[in-house]
Amino acid sequence: MFTGPAEIYDRFVGRYSPRLARAMCDAAGVRPGQRALDVGCGSGALVAALAGVLGAENVTGLDPSEPFAEAARARVPNARIQVGSAESIPFADEEFDTTLSQLVVNFLTDPEQGLREMSRVTRPGGVVAGSVWDYGGEMTLLRTFWDAAVAVDPQGATPVMESHTMRFARPEELEELWRSSALEDVDVSPLVVEASYDDFDDLWAPFPTGVGPAGAYTASLEAEAQALLRDEYARRLGEPEGAFTLSARAWCAVGRVGD
Ligand SMILES: C[S@@+](CC[C@H](N)C(=O)[O-])C[C@H]1O[C@@H](n2cnc3c(N)ncnc32)[C@H](O)[C@@H]1O
Repeated sequence: MFTGPAEIYDRFVGRYSPRLARAMCDAAGVRPGQRALDVGCGSGALVAALAGVLGAENVTGLDPSEPFAEAARARVPNARIQVGSAESIPFADEEFDTTLSQLVVNFLTDPEQGLREMSRVTRPGGVVAGSVWDYGGEMTLLRTFWDAAVAVDPQGATPVMESHTMRFARPEELEELWRSSALEDVDVSPLVVEASYDDFDDLWAPFPTGVGPAGAYTASLEAEAQALLRDEYARRLGEPEGAFTLSARAWCAVGRVGD
């Protein structure tokens, strides 16, 4: 799902990432003088936001996808970017003041282990923060996509729609994950961001390439079924003519490593 070119991801959900990254830095209380780790850094939107506050030399990114890691290196050349996974973070205990993961924990094979690892590499008193889209609610791009897919293909789309398959998309569930790794002062809050599109084609273009779960579903359809889905999706977004903007809500959990 995330092994294709990073440019396609950046036109898809990654379009929201730079703004979400700035909101996550605020929510986590990132401030100059800290060393930060971004777990599941993808193409580097959060690495860039962290570098803007901390300086690139104080920012590390980690992602299992080599093309994404390469894109993050190109985006923030002086940051340290490594290939690796959240469940086995290749860094020392207490190496960072803060560890963030943006739109990642719902993709982990073992999220509880991922959180234990993020806590391990963060110093006592440091912050561990992570966000997940509100898939079943106000993440308009994906929510409307799956509503359209279920309308035209109820049997095929319902079992794979992200509001069914993604864990931690509800605030209580995300909070429970943070508490499960003994993080203290846990707080979950909504982060709402926007992205702009030139027209509906600009929004639709990444879907048939197979990026992310919604793209994988679209790519699995025959051309005729894709065209039906595209029309229903456009209809549900109000048949936009020309440029438009969509908003997206993510839930963000913030917790502190105990002393
Ligand atoms: C939705 S993307 C988010 C990328 C980036 N954080 C952003 O906000 O644009 C999910 C990312 O999680 C990464 N990922 C998947 N499994 C992972 C794992 N086990 N450990 C760390 N990252 C993982 C993917 O490679 C991908 O870059």
